[in-house]
Amino acid sequence: EQIEKGGYNHFMLKEIYEQPNAIIDTYRGRLLANNGIIKMGSVDNNIAKFLNANKIIIVACGTSWHAGLVAEYLFEDLARIPVEVEYASEFRYRNPVINKGDVVIAISQSGETADTLAAIKLAKSKGAFVFGICNVVGSSIARETDTGAYTHAGPEIGVASTKAFTTQITVLTLMALKLGNLKGEISNSRFHAFLQEMTLIPSKIEETLKISSEIERIAAIYKDASNCLYLGRGYNFPVALEGALKLKEISYIHAEGYPAAEMKHGPIALIDESMPVVIIATNKGHYDKVVSNIQEIKSRNGKIIAVVTKGDTTVREIADHVIEIPETEEAFTPLLATIPLQLLSYYIAVMRGCDVDQPRNLAKSVTVE
Ligand code: G6P
Repeated sequence: EQIEKGGYNHFMLKEIYEQPNAIIDTYRGRLLANNGIIKMGSVDNNIAKFLNANKIIIVACGTSWHAGLVAEYLFEDLARIPVEVEYASEFRYRNPVINKGDVVIAISQSGETADTLAAIKLAKSKGAFVFGICNVVGSSIARETDTGAYTHAGPEIGVASTKAFTTQITVLTLMALKLGNLKGEISNSRFHAFLQEMTLIPSKIEETLKISSEIERIAAIYKDASNCLYLGRGYNFPVALEGALKLKEISYIHAEGYPAAEMKHGPIALIDESMPVVIIATNKGHYDKVVSNIQEIKSRNGKIIAVVTKGDTTVREIADHVIEIPETEEAFTPLLATIPLQLLSYYIAVMRGCDVDQPRNLAKSVTVE
């Protein structure tokens, strides 16, 4: 097993560090940046279904559901296609409205999650076209869907999902860009710029991984917290949810993810000097609004750990800690902002003596209801 961990103490850490290469494997042969093309056989062969879709319904569980939420922003923002994101377990039991022209996308690392599989069967029985995004080749979901795309992330052993998440987002980003361009929502020059920027994402993740010792230092300060709040807006809202999920899964610290603006409708009551708040405050999107959210936390003595864009000075003045990530397109921010949150929960869990790769009560894939 030590050999399989390739010199890392845990599979989770190894898989976090594999993300730059995993993303390259995901877009290899699909992203032809120099030709200005995104080639995805399963999308290309069904292009009319996607372009004429009344709506896209995404079904998934756990971390894959969070990738679905990122996709909601991607497809609506870049391709102007309405999206609904559903927990597979709720979707299958609530008599959902599915019409013939709807496209269902099922996302699953393992391709074996029972609820997601059942949701696919239901969607198919109502005549929907079902597209799967799986990591495990030949898995039940890969076989049950009409067609789909593999993430090619390689085996993910750690129960808490890391590289599966960022590679799912990579596939979904390619799809949204392609459809946005074909629909005329993204001009050719903008499309080219997006493709070029995508090729830089792996090295920008490498850059973020290099500051892991700073993140480890922050982890040491907050390892004994009993609660933690994660906030983000827009594209960073699902990232906040995923950050909170990672922390609770492996460190057993209670953590909640919230859209930053919703804080005032509840979580703000929890903020005091013992409450760490992780807030994603990158420079695009709703930056000024997030800065005022940070001020609201500060005035209640909350401890602020902010993920910011390199060179940020405003948030640095207010926050207790800042973690810098490289500048990128707003739509690509989840691919970078996720990384420090994975590392933060990893280090906290290790310091608390938790079994990082096999957290209590959790399974890598849930094949029963
Ligand atoms: C379990 C795993 C999670 C995963 C979820 C969905 O809860 O512990 O890491 O996100 O299942 O799994 P899937 O294989 O369908 O993506």
